[in-house]
Formats: sequence, structure tokens, C-alpha cells
Amino acid sequence: MKIQIITLFPEMFPGIMDASMLWKAQEQKLLDISYVNLRDFGLGNRKTVDDTPYGGGDGMLLKPEPLFAAVRFAKEQDPDANVMLMTARGARWKQASAQKAADTQTGLIIICGRYEGYDERITSLVDMQVSIGDYVLTGGELPAMVVTDSIVRLIPGVLGGENSAAIESFSDGRTLEFPQYTRPEEFEGMKVPEVLLSGNHAAIEKWRTENSQQADKN
Ligand code: ADE
Repeated sequence: MKIQIITLFPEMFPGIMDASMLWKAQEQKLLDISYVNLRDFGLGNRKTVDDTPYGGGDGMLLKPEPLFAAVRFAKEQDPDANVMLMTARGARWKQASAQKAADTQTGLIIICGRYEGYDERITSLVDMQVSIGDYVLTGGELPAMVVTDSIVRLIPGVLGGENSAAIESFSDGRTLEFPQYTRPEEFEGMKVPEVLLSGNHAAIEKWRTENSQQADKN
């Protein structure tokens, strides 16, 4: 799966994207992540990417020309890719959204919004506007990492145990993962629930179901 991320801050990504599962997925050629530096498409000698809003108001907006040029550049690398704009105004990203993206593995071009906003005309190039939650972040970089991580771990072959992604939280859209324990049996006076040591698989299954929290608990 090919993911291109359009950002003014590519240096924010390697710590997350080049570690653990995301690194492994790239090593195995299941994932190809690249960064398009919006600054490279900035205007003039100063590589300007932002400007003040018409109608007044605080702050600066990302200008349309560099954004359009960056998206068009990314589209040349992957003409069928879906273009996603990270914005607090977008549709909420859900486990089902991640699953759909992992199932199709259609390429993604993720635009990270920045500053106080972006010129609205960029939305004409965008297939989806995505929010990761009802809070406002300083930019789309963290959301882009969250969305990427949520998709990539569902790509077949990326997780070690092929069942682990399926068993756990939200896989059926309803439940959160049950509590789990490993050795030792007793730690600082806290014991592993007896049933988990029983070897009784039916009883263990029942306990796990009973102890899975509902996802809509808020
Ligand atoms: N940019 C700023 N806040 C955001 C959010 N909650 N989700 C996605 N992109 C954002």
C-alpha cells in the first residue's frame, strides 16, 4: 500500500513511522510511505505557503497554489490514490474506516492542514475530509500518523499473529478488548483471575466476553 503525506513538517514522522509495526511493514514491502514537503511547492524566493484570510481574522491560511501543486505531484506518483484532508471539521475516523482502507489498499495521499487553516478551494481535490476526534490540534501531522497506523496494522501479514487484529478491540464494532495477564501469577498481591489458569476454554471465553467493555461507554 502506498501512502504519500503532504506536510510542512516531514521531520515529525520518522520516530513513529520508522519504528515497530510500521517499520516492519515497510521492510516487508507491504507499505511504501513517502513525504511530500509542501515547502518545496511554496511561491517565490521565500517559498511562501501561507497568507492572511480574506475578510480579516487572525492567523494565516495555507495558500491554494502550493497545495494544488503538491497534490498534483503526488497524483503523478499514484494516479488512483484517494486524497484525504486531515481537519477537525472532517468526518470522524473509525475502525471501520481503517478496515475499509486496509481491505482495498488503495493508495492514499494525506494532506496535513497547518496553521489556522487552509484555503477552502483545496477541498475540490479531496476525496475525504477526516477528523480523528472532537478536539483541535496544531496540525494534521499527528492525525496522519494515527490514521496510517490504524490502517497498516490491518494489512494482512503486518501483525505477527494473524488473529490478533481480528480478536481485539472494535473488530466487531461493538466491544473493547478484554483484560489480559501474563506471568507471574501473583504480583504485589494482585492475582491473575482463577478462570484464566483453569485451562477451561469455554469458561475463559465466557469470562472474556463478560469482561469486554462496550465501545459506546464514552
Ligand atoms: N487538524 C486539527 N485538528 C484535527 C483533528 N482533530 N483531526 C484531524 N485533523 C486535525
